[in-house]
Amino acid sequence: MSRLVVVSNRVAPIDEGKQAAGGLAVAVLAALKKTGGIWFGWSGNVVEGDSQGEPTRTDVGRLTYATLDLGRRDFEEYYNGFANQTLWPLFHYRLGLIEVSRRTREGYKRVNGYFAERLAPLLQPDDMVWVHDYHLIPFGEELRQRGCNQRMGFFLHTPFPAPEILVALPNHRELIRELCNYDLVGFHTQVDLRCFADYIREETDGTVEDRGPEGGMMIQAFGRTLLAKAFPISIDTANLESLAQTAARSRHTERLRESLVGRRLIIGVDRLDYSKGLPQRFQAFEQLLATYPEHCNRVSFLQIAPPSREDVPEYIAIKRELSELSGRINGRFAEFDWVPIRYLNKSFGRRVLAGFYRTANVGLVTPLRDGMNLVAKEYVACQDPDDPGVLVLSTFAGAARELGEALIVNPFDIEAVADALQRALTMSLPERKERHDAIMRTLRRHDIGWWRETYVDALTRAPYG
Ligand code: G6P
Repeated sequence: MSRLVVVSNRVAPIDEGKQAAGGLAVAVLAALKKTGGIWFGWSGNVVEGDSQGEPTRTDVGRLTYATLDLGRRDFEEYYNGFANQTLWPLFHYRLGLIEVSRRTREGYKRVNGYFAERLAPLLQPDDMVWVHDYHLIPFGEELRQRGCNQRMGFFLHTPFPAPEILVALPNHRELIRELCNYDLVGFHTQVDLRCFADYIREETDGTVEDRGPEGGMMIQAFGRTLLAKAFPISIDTANLESLAQTAARSRHTERLRESLVGRRLIIGVDRLDYSKGLPQRFQAFEQLLATYPEHCNRVSFLQIAPPSREDVPEYIAIKRELSELSGRINGRFAEFDWVPIRYLNKSFGRRVLAGFYRTANVGLVTPLRDGMNLVAKEYVACQDPDDPGVLVLSTFAGAARELGEALIVNPFDIEAVADALQRALTMSLPERKERHDAIMRTLRRHDIGWWRETYVDALTRAPYG
């Protein structure tokens, strides 16, 4: 079996016990344990001066973590700059928010080159290299320029935008040429895949051979042949089900339940990001209380939103906006013994969240645009099958393509989201069970193991040229 080399901007903590909730981390770790290999990426540390030095290596069994620090300028230009102020808003259809600068694009290239330079000597001829997310699109080309001929796959964890959006990026062809250096390019949904194929047809001299949803699309472009295919990421369904069962009796869950004193609970859990639709979500809850006043003092909304990318101005702005909004709504509706919105800027571990999900009658997941959204899947997997809660899900989350039995909403339509909340809160037990069962069938069939295996299997068959 070939060794797997995983490359991602963030590398999961080495101490697995402390591992954050991330589905990607769970999936990648399981794959790496099976094959042995390297997990390579940024250490999360920023040092003064330039990025330099060899990777710090830590061996855990057959797995080696190899991480690099970033110098201040690289952190600003590559991470805060091109990745998070250009590509992130662009890929989430927010053209009004994109910053365009040659300096940050060069910084992005430079860091990808630096990472490739440091990984190349660690590679063995038969390795498979699996690169993750928008931070590292040029990474494969940078490796190839250094003489690496290994099989290389890329997986995009965000949406891939329609060509009309992508062309707002200066030198967009260069970015897609870089992407075409991989043998396999994975997306979450058929929608993302179609956008990529449309770009190839409309903006390049390349060709696309559509082999159907199971076969993906064979792309010939920029002198390369690659397979592009949708691999919807998922969760460790069985593990979460049993985690939630135990967590239902944990101290945290007990405290949450006691604090509700018989009231019902709506829950949202998101990084504090403008793509998550949080202001609209808060307004939809406000609208629910205004339109259906029987819920006043009967329903609480718990929004967990750990701060993210705090050096980027748009993230500072959204944080301020949400503080004001939650304050205003609470001021308008609160009673001396009830606060409508419990808004928390901190994170919780997997186990605690599993208990919170199980306690909540409604899971409210309303991003304006999202690659997949694993919270939607986790919320459902954590429900008590005999008395499950209801998922209200944005049509613009990749998860909506698979979880059609959720209450699917347009997150921009605040009144419609309020109505969906009303419907969720008043849904009969048989209907809740039916919807839950149907979603669970999907989540059991397509869990994280399925995602990892189908991707790695496709990469094993490379090259496709
Ligand atoms: C999204 C991205 C990931 C990223 C995560 C957290 O899920 O797709 O690549 O790691 O957000 O963001 P951060 O900037 O803290 O790594």
